[in-house]
Amino acid sequence: MFQPAATAFDAATPVGEARLAEILGAFSYALDLTEGQPAGHSVRAAWIGTYVGLAAGLGDAELADCLYAVLLKDLGCSSNAARVADLFLGDDRTLKHGFKLIGPDGADFLAFIAVEVGAQEEAAARQAALDHLHGNAAPILAGFIQTRCTQGAGIAKRLRFSDRVADGIAALDEHWDGGGLPRGLSGTAIPLLSRIALLAQVADVFFMAGGPDRAMAEVAARSGSWLDPDLAAIFAELASDPAFWTQLSAPDIDARLFALEPAQARVAVDETWLDDIAIAFGQVIDAKSPYTGGHSERVALLTDRVGAHLGIAAPERRRLVRCAMLHDIGKLGVSNRILDKPGRLDPQEWAVMQGHAQATTDILSRIGVMRDMALIAGSHHERLDGSGYPLGLDENTISMETRIVSVADFFDALTADRPYRAAMPADQALSIMACEVGDAIDGDCFDALDAIVAEGLPEAPLPAMPDVLAG
Ligand SMILES: [Fe+2]
Ligand SMILES: [Fe+2]
Repeated sequence: MFQPAATAFDAATPVGEARLAEILGAFSYALDLTEGQPAGHSVRAAWIGTYVGLAAGLGDAELADCLYAVLLKDLGCSSNAARVADLFLGDDRTLKHGFKLIGPDGADFLAFIAVEVGAQEEAAARQAALDHLHGNAAPILAGFIQTRCTQGAGIAKRLRFSDRVADGIAALDEHWDGGGLPRGLSGTAIPLLSRIALLAQVADVFFMAGGPDRAMAEVAARSGSWLDPDLAAIFAELASDPAFWTQLSAPDIDARLFALEPAQARVAVDETWLDDIAIAFGQVIDAKSPYTGGHSERVALLTDRVGAHLGIAAPERRRLVRCAMLHDIGKLGVSNRILDKPGRLDPQEWAVMQGHAQATTDILSRIGVMRDMALIAGSHHERLDGSGYPLGLDENTISMETRIVSVADFFDALTADRPYRAAMPADQALSIMACEVGDAIDGDCFDALDAIVAEGLPEAPLPAMPDVLAG
């Protein structure tokens, strides 16, 4: 019988006692953006999956792992976004949203691509893409899913989760009948948490698309093919109670999910763990586009050096470095057709691209322990002369912290390859930036950067970040 969850939630949890579930729950909204899912998909799926796990009799430790495996099932999703956009000639977020709504048969996939591939492109390009997909559909799909699984499981380990969570994420797309990917596992050879995660994903995707009846019908239809029939039966019983759907739709669904986490599994997140979380999501951000590989990490390292040069103390620098690591998290909501476009962006595309800065502020604002960093991070494209975005801040309103991140970001953008130009040497980048002092960027920050480049740029790997900052 479905039991409503306790809803106690202290929104005023002090910094330093933040719970892992709250932090990762807030970050999961960025994963929803990347997958083109309605906001809150990961949280709702985790809520569904945790209830299924409870009803299936999971013990506390495994139930906590279940919650996190489902919540973070899409951790690897950004890693195949560029390839999806490229091969399917379209907006990866729209395509990914569509993939999850198509039927379970190969014919459904072919019907989907016949309509969606290259819908905005000229006929010849569209036909070439379709021909390629028809001839190579199986290896292409296997490649997508393998990349996503490997990346997702690796980042879960980075977040300090157990093998059980990582394995649960890695086998998300395996099907009960052996027809899934990437390994073609079947039955109980598929990790239990993966079976729960797939069921929860199907349930929420179709709930959002067509309401409770559609969700229940799709789970029932895929029982025994995609889904573990025992789990599908458990879900059917839970879902037969209208209160299940009322709670799933409640505006406080996040708090309801956190309340489901077994008490003994709850952990407070310390400073080094927060560093690891920022690094892990920095990797999610950088995996979105081949042109941003390592960008967040380099901007974070450079921010640390510029901050130190300007005399910012280590504890503040540590927070600023996390902020720099996450400054482009809003790009997870931008199509790779725009991020990776080799030519000039048209006005509409440019508006979407600019939207990533406000999205960064919005995402980080959800995360209690990083809320004070949200505006700093989301203002990295502001200019001192007031002509930047998203708010048009100026020299009176742009914080020193933002100025530091902006200088680091500007330099790394110039010295890395972009879709429309090759990387510049450091001295050329510095001369371009020198012309922007006072208009776009801060003179003290630029001087610090100039000195650091003369001394030699900081090098990855970022795992040294806490050690660097401790010094
Ligand atoms: Fe940016
Ligand atoms: Fe950036």
